[in-house]
This record gives sequence, structure tokens and C-alpha cells, in this order.
Amino acid sequence: MLNKIVTQPQGVRRAFVKSFGCQMNVYDSQRMADIAESEGYAPTDDVNAADLVILNTCHIREHAVEKVFSELGRLRELKEARRAEGLKTTIVVAGCVAQAEGAEIVRRQSAVDLVVGPQAYHRLPKLLSQAERESVVDTDFPVEDKFDSLPAARPETLKSRGASAFVTVQEGCDKFCTFCVVPYTRGAESSRAPEKVLAELERLAAAGVVEATLIGQNVNAYRGAGRDGQTATLAELLARAARIDALKRLRYQTSHPIDMGADLIAAHRDNEKLAPYLHLPAQSGSDRILKAMNRRHAACDYLDVIADARRARPDLAISSDFIVGFPGETEEDFAATLELARRVAYASAYVFKYSPRPGTPAEKREDQIDEDVKAARHAVLQGELDAQRLTFNRQTVGKTFEVLFDREGRRKGQALGRSPYMQSVHLDAEEDVAGRMMRVEIVAAGPNSLHGRPAP
Ligand code: SAH
Ligand code: SF4
Ligand code: F3S
Repeated sequence: MLNKIVTQPQGVRRAFVKSFGCQMNVYDSQRMADIAESEGYAPTDDVNAADLVILNTCHIREHAVEKVFSELGRLRELKEARRAEGLKTTIVVAGCVAQAEGAEIVRRQSAVDLVVGPQAYHRLPKLLSQAERESVVDTDFPVEDKFDSLPAARPETLKSRGASAFVTVQEGCDKFCTFCVVPYTRGAESSRAPEKVLAELERLAAAGVVEATLIGQNVNAYRGAGRDGQTATLAELLARAARIDALKRLRYQTSHPIDMGADLIAAHRDNEKLAPYLHLPAQSGSDRILKAMNRRHAACDYLDVIADARRARPDLAISSDFIVGFPGETEEDFAATLELARRVAYASAYVFKYSPRPGTPAEKREDQIDEDVKAARHAVLQGELDAQRLTFNRQTVGKTFEVLFDREGRRKGQALGRSPYMQSVHLDAEEDVAGRMMRVEIVAAGPNSLHGRPAP
């Protein structure tokens, strides 16, 4: 990345924003790019051309954190090389590592000018000018509403981001699963007012967005205080969002099993725009481990929710996250997880090896599992879930459904879209279909994607 330093015409400044971690971070990254733009930094995809570099970081697993520090090492070299050319580079570390590590980041990597937490980034304009003079750390959980102080993106910027958009509706987490850092990095659960979410959705729809995903660390715990004094649930918010004509498809993520209310399950039957897809992390299929994780439900409760949701929407596809090698996990516990996975038959799922996180209760346990045991269980469960995904993909061959073409295909003349079930769909397309929702008949399926042709 150091091979070419790009100089700009006088006066043009550029910002490069890189996102790690979950969709909440993707959303925050876009909002930080909007702030940078309002401060006179045009967006760039080329880090070598950037006067302002923002890394929006993730703290969820150790691996994610190490990636950030190795990236910072490379950025330091870039900063020095640019300085030799008379160019200034401001390096910002934002997101959950910023929140968790704070000033430690500047100590470990002195090239960093500014550290800003996920609840304080609306203060970026002020912080950037402070950082001109000294390194700055802001990891407050301020009382003011971050979203109220964020500049709205320019319509052209929204257009450039494509036909599918994320909107944060809920932040933070009060669940305190014993393995997880999120309650510490993102703070307490809070929901945005429904009117504000709907106004943002209207703006996105006006800029050409046809699919919106309402996101939150615990999105189904959404309780938005409305202007009418009523509190809206996620199902109610989705019903109101469905009235925005230009939006054709709605999704939500990520849900906790204990917050799957009856009205949200019913929304899968009643809300015609809601995609037939539910990401519902199980983490484990062992009651003993679920209890130790503080998930607050048993495996049978999880299966009941899935059964209810499938009754409401028979073609519902389910995805999940699993953790293998949680402290104290026995072969029997792991077998229960495999059994749960087999009973659900997932469309897709992620498996993570348990990663001890600083400050969490599970990290302090003495009965940590060996890395090779974690790796072996990871391979077995991932193998089962990969096979399930292939089966699911194959079941869609011969079916016709609406595919949203939100991305460029790899080859020319080929478009890449997403099915209602989140599968990647390739289509040989003569015309430009970018940004469009089209009826596609699936003709072939592999483990990672489908192939389709335009349907009448
Ligand atoms: N709020 C969501 C997602 C949280 S983070 C939920 O409640 O499910 C996304 C996923 O990362 C989690 O579902 C979990 O599977 C995984 N994860 C979180 N902490 C982890 C840790 N310490 N080690 C390994 N995986 C972890
Ligand atoms: Fe983490 Fe659990 Fe909260 Fe999800 S519900 S963010 S896994 S503490
Ligand atoms: Fe990572 Fe923070 Fe999201 S730790 S998963 S970026 S909430």
C-alpha cells in the first residue's frame, strides 16, 4: 500500500474510512464519512490519497483487535512517507476497540491522532480540530442524542452507496452474556424515536434505496418513544416502514431469542415487505452452557421460537451464530449444539471459537478449553452447517423470486444480487440492472451462491 502516494490538487482533502466488525459499525462508518464530508473531506477508497484515515474497529474477538493494530502499523509507515512529501495525515481510531482500550491505543501506536468511541463520534468536528494540537481521546457516553447532531448525508452520497441500506434503530445491550464485550463498548440499550427512523428511511428511499435493514445489537428489544407518547415495538416500526412506497424489502438484525415477541413473529406473516429471513443466534444447544453464558433461555425455548416463526411464515430461512469452546464445554455439550443445529436446518450460520475478552466474566474462568479442541469442534460444526447451506441453496433451484441487484458482478456482463434469503445470485445480464429488484428464476446452486436467469 506504500507504493504510491497520491497528491491532491491544492485544497482538496480526502477521507478514507475502513470498517471492521458488525453492521452497526458499517452504519457508523457511513455517518462518520458524512461528517468528514461536511468538514470538507471528499470520500476516497484509496488510503494512499487520504488526508484523514478513520479505522472503525471491532473488539468482539481477539483476532479482530489484532487486525486493527497490524493495520495501524502499516498506516504509521504511510503517514511517515506522506510527511516526507510534505503531506499531513490524521489517523483516527473509532469504534469498539477505541471504547475498550482508550488512551492505551495512543501509547501502543503513537501515530494515532484521535481515539473516539462509538457514542461520541458526532463530536468529530471539534475533536479533529483539537487533534491538530495534541492527541485526543474521547470515550464518553454523552447524554445528548448522537443521532440528533449528525449531518444528513448528501443525496448524491446516499445514491453512491447503493440500493440496500442499514439504519441503526437501537443501540447498546443490557443482556451481559458472559462472553461478550458489547455491553461494555456500546453501553445500555436505547432506541431511536420512530419518527426519526422513518424520516431517515424516507430520505434513503428518495435517494433510490429499495431495501432497508433496521439494525441494533438487540434490535428486537427496540422500544421507540413516539411523539404521541406511545412506545413502538420493532413490529410496529416495521409496519410503518412498510408504508414507504419506494421501499420494497425490509429486514432486521440482530435479534435475541428472549425478545422475539408475538407481534414480531406475526409480522413475518402480516408484513408483506418483511423478508422471509430471521437471524437468531443460538450460541449453544446445551442448557448448561446457555446458562453459563447468561443467555436466559434453554435450547427448547429457542426451538419453540423457531417453530412459531415457521408457522407464521412457512418459507422462513433461519441463520445463527454459534460459539464453540466456551469455558467448561464438554463433548456432551458440544453434541447438544450439533443436535440443535440438525433440528433447525439452517440456511446459513457462523461458528466462532470462543475468544476470552478482557473484563468479561467468562474470561476469568479456570476451565478454559484448549485451542485444538476448539478448532476440532469448529471444524465439525462448520462442516455440518456448510452441508445444510448447500442443501438449502439446492432447494431454491427451479424457484422464482425477487432479487435485488445491489452490487457489481465479478465479470463484465454479470450482475450480482441478493435473494430474499440473503443468498448471492449471479445473473448473466445484457442490460445494467444495478439498483433494481428483478424476478429471477434460479437455475443452479453451489455452496456460496446461486445462478439465475431473468423470469417473465
Ligand atoms: N447481539 C448479537 C450479536 C453479538 S456479536 C447477539 O446477541 O447475538 C456477534 C456474534 O459474535 C455473537 O452472536 C457471538 O456468536 C460472537 N461472539 C461474541 N463474543 C464472542 C467471544 N468472546 N468469542 C467468540 N465469539 C463471540
Ligand atoms: Fe453480546 Fe449477548 Fe448483548 Fe448479544 S445479547 S450483544 S451476545 S451481551
Ligand atoms: Fe464488534 Fe462492536 Fe460490533 S465489538 S461486533 S463492532 S458492537
